Amino acid sequence: MKKYVIRGGNPLEGEVRVSGGKNAAVAIIPAALLVKGVCIIENVPIVNDVMLLTKIMSEMGAKVSFLDKTTLRVDSTEINTCAAVSELVRKMRASYYLIGALLGRFGKAQVGLPGGCDFGVRPIDYHIRGFESLGATVSIEHGIVNAVAENGIKGTSMSLDFPSVGATINIMMAAVLAQGTTVIENAGKEPHIVDIANFLNAMGAEIRGAGTDTIKIKGVSELHGGRYEIIPDQIEAGTYMVAAAAVGGKVKVSNVIPKHLESISAKLEEIGVTVKEDDDFITVSREPGQILNNVNVKTLPYPGFPTDMQPQIATLLCLANGTSVVTEGIYEHRFKYVDELRRMGAKMNVDGRVCVISGIDHFTGAAVSACDLRAGVALVIAGLCADGMTEISNVHLIERGYEDIIEKLKGLGASIGVIDDEPQTTETVSVSVG
Ligand code: EPU
Repeated sequence: MKKYVIRGGNPLEGEVRVSGGKNAAVAIIPAALLVKGVCIIENVPIVNDVMLLTKIMSEMGAKVSFLDKTTLRVDSTEINTCAAVSELVRKMRASYYLIGALLGRFGKAQVGLPGGCDFGVRPIDYHIRGFESLGATVSIEHGIVNAVAENGIKGTSMSLDFPSVGATINIMMAAVLAQGTTVIENAGKEPHIVDIANFLNAMGAEIRGAGTDTIKIKGVSELHGGRYEIIPDQIEAGTYMVAAAAVGGKVKVSNVIPKHLESISAKLEEIGVTVKEDDDFITVSREPGQILNNVNVKTLPYPGFPTDMQPQIATLLCLANGTSVVTEGIYEHRFKYVDELRRMGAKMNVDGRVCVISGIDHFTGAAVSACDLRAGVALVIAGLCADGMTEISNVHLIERGYEDIIEKLKGLGASIGVIDDEPQTTETVSVSVG
């Protein structure tokens, strides 16, 4: 099994370049199914979830190839199936975007129910209600979502019960080629929702209001090919910012959109770390011995503090002076990693959605296991500041969403390596579970 081995204690110094957004890429790539033509997608992060999607789309008849390390060419002209039911579909959450894309293009879709990181019930009822409002009949049988719009997709107005990222994007995709105009109220406002809307508009869609809580989609008759560059990954950037704060040193996090990072920068400053913003980079520094303040954090939809940064900031707060409270506002069970951090000396008590953290002097290295993507990277952060050696297993979960994490951390001076005691296979796509 592949593991990361970290010797803690090296301060982080230098520059790390952030890759394209994982959660934008896993929506934009299926959105290319809506386009009869060639989409050239730039700044694609090479992470397991992306590779898995390219494989699923190839199986469906799309011509998918990399033109260079980060530029993907997708030609969906010849797609001849409305079904995506292979085992690969169940391996990742984002495969739900295949439903919206196929429904939008063909008026019907048959897609395996998505899997995903295991932190509580993750239903897709908002997506389904959205598709039904657009005129589809949706049923779930034998683990497969069947959606059919006998009379075509028809624009309508709807309001989401919660500003769900996935439902907002999926409904946009299903509505882009609809007859008439669709209005989504209480829509999600995350940067990657805006990115998908910009991608679709670049291909000829007419979407207005993405990034506000009301999105209007005027149906068009078809989309054309084009070129689009994915935004930088907000969460990858935030993860390196928090790592710099936890370990100490000075790190320039480049290729970022500082506006997307405001809630993270503000929290780090409250904790007492120095954060300097520029046009497209942020520098985070912490002097040796600099005390970290205890703070409270509550995760919320954008522009609030992101749930995908909760395990990382909680790890940082383990090293703060005094008691901090972290409240998870999005998912019911996103504190499963706490037991692993406790093995490294953390003092954390979880009651439902609330985690009370008492500051400690330092983590101690231990053998721990990643239970999901962000939980896994939180263990990496803890390992980087721990006394002694940390060995992290289940790292394929981390590689779902962090491109070249080992190389990037080594470039900052971290002592981190990989051990792999399983024979290599010839399979080029690592299959993920989230
Ligand atoms: N929800 C429902 N019904 C639905 C959809 C969502 O009850 O039909 C609930 C969820 O259970 C959750 C809340 O609404 O409690 C918000 O879920 P949302 O739909 O916003 O999340 P998602 O689309 O499933 C995406 C990201 C997650 C990220 C969340 C929140 C992708 C592929 N996943 O998930 O990313 O945590 O938005 O920002 O974009 C990650 O990258 O580590 C990750 C888990």
